[in-house]
Amino acid sequence: MGLFLTFEGPDGSGKSTQAHLLASELRTRGHVVVETREPGGTPVGEAVRHMFLDLDGPAQSPLTMALLLSASRAQLVSEAILPALERGQTVIVDRYADSTVAYQGYGFGLDLEIVRDLTRIATRGVTPDITVLVDVPVEVGLERVNRRGAHNRLDAPDIAFHERVREGYHRMAEAHPERWVTVDGTQDSQGVHRALMDKLAPLLQEVAQPT
Ligand code: TYD
Repeated sequence: MGLFLTFEGPDGSGKSTQAHLLASELRTRGHVVVETREPGGTPVGEAVRHMFLDLDGPAQSPLTMALLLSASRAQLVSEAILPALERGQTVIVDRYADSTVAYQGYGFGLDLEIVRDLTRIATRGVTPDITVLVDVPVEVGLERVNRRGAHNRLDAPDIAFHERVREGYHRMAEAHPERWVTVDGTQDSQGVHRALMDKLAPLLQEVAQPT
């Protein structure tokens, strides 16, 4: 099986940039890397993404959100992630099941047991080898999102909501230090990338070698 990495973090953490930088770095080291994102990554997933993030779309309960996101995830796992891992390729996903725990669970208050059940069903147990948390204070993240100007339904500057999301990430990272690697996302992107590569070095030696 190939190596499975996911990137997580609050809005505006810069994790997508870090996911791309890591993918490039691993390619230069001989990995065949499949990069994808959530919600999205498949035709079904992109349709869910549109429905989920559309500012003008109908209101969704936290459970409805989690079900939609889980449908996108189930399709991504069976169509892209699992086949690539079975080919021995390296898979990097920008957000995965931990986002549902952080946002719908901690952020919107959906029962964490429900989120766990949905995750088990949608992922069929396909769990990342390494999850990178790109951590930034909520104000820093939201300020970046505002500057970028690309708004979605969850970008509203509800500080308390985003604080709960970040707290959820911290709890998950503390509970599973064997999987989570946390980097400070407040530096410039090259600085964050270097810090991340330093932290990943021992882990990349331990886990699957490139094909
Ligand atoms: P996106 O524009 O991709 O932002 P980001 O660069 O921060 O990933 O929007 C994704 C949004 O969807 C983001 O606000 C987090 C949210 N989200 C959830 O609430 N739950 C989930 O399970 C996932 C995957 C994303």
